[in-house]
Amino acid sequence: MAAKFLLLGLLAVTCSIALASDPSPLQDFCVADPNSKVIVNGLVCKDPKLVQANDFFFSGLNIPGNTSNQLGSQVTPAMIAGLNTLGISVVRIDYAPMGVIPPHTHPRASEILTVLEGSLEVGFVTSNPGNRLISKVLHKGDVFVFPIGLIHFQRNIGHGNAVSISALSSQNPGVITIANAVFGSTPPISADILAKAFQVDKGIVARIELQF
Ligand SMILES: *[C@@H]1O[C@H](CO)[C@@H](O)[C@H](O)[C@H]1NC(C)=O
Repeated sequence: MAAKFLLLGLLAVTCSIALASDPSPLQDFCVADPNSKVIVNGLVCKDPKLVQANDFFFSGLNIPGNTSNQLGSQVTPAMIAGLNTLGISVVRIDYAPMGVIPPHTHPRASEILTVLEGSLEVGFVTSNPGNRLISKVLHKGDVFVFPIGLIHFQRNIGHGNAVSISALSSQNPGVITIANAVFGSTPPISADILAKAFQVDKGIVARIELQF
């Protein structure tokens, strides 16, 4: 009986590892060939003989992003062709005072965020039915994890600008921004569906939809 549980436990662990990140590469690297017309899971590999150091290199994450927008934040990804098939990526995020990265999820990646400057309030919400908010105030040097798929957010709560770096466990984490997806889809989700979902009248739904 104990052995059976151990086996089930091992199976569960093995399966969750297999599903929690991009598929493992079957070669040293597969630098993306942006010119290929072939569609595969990831991008087609450049001829390994033609691969250069610059295929694994990006310069510029020291440059602040432009936060002059409605959210007061900017995400700058390090664009690196050599990340193709490696299951990892990195972004810089800049926040103006009171700037927000609004509630969103990454369908294909967990995220580990490090604060380089300033102070952030961060949080994520667990799945139904608990929907527990796990949140914390972070300062320079603090690190926080957003588990794959869960809705999370960041807000600059300091007086100056804030900067963070996030590593993500996919070359292509994907982003679903909740407000935009729910209220700004094309075509829109029927107002009566959203009115029921949010327990408000359709006029309020229409007003929110106008913002997107
Ligand atoms: C930042 O973005 C705003 C709005 O798009 C633009 O007006 C401004 O010129 C940009 N600033 C810089 C330094 O690029």
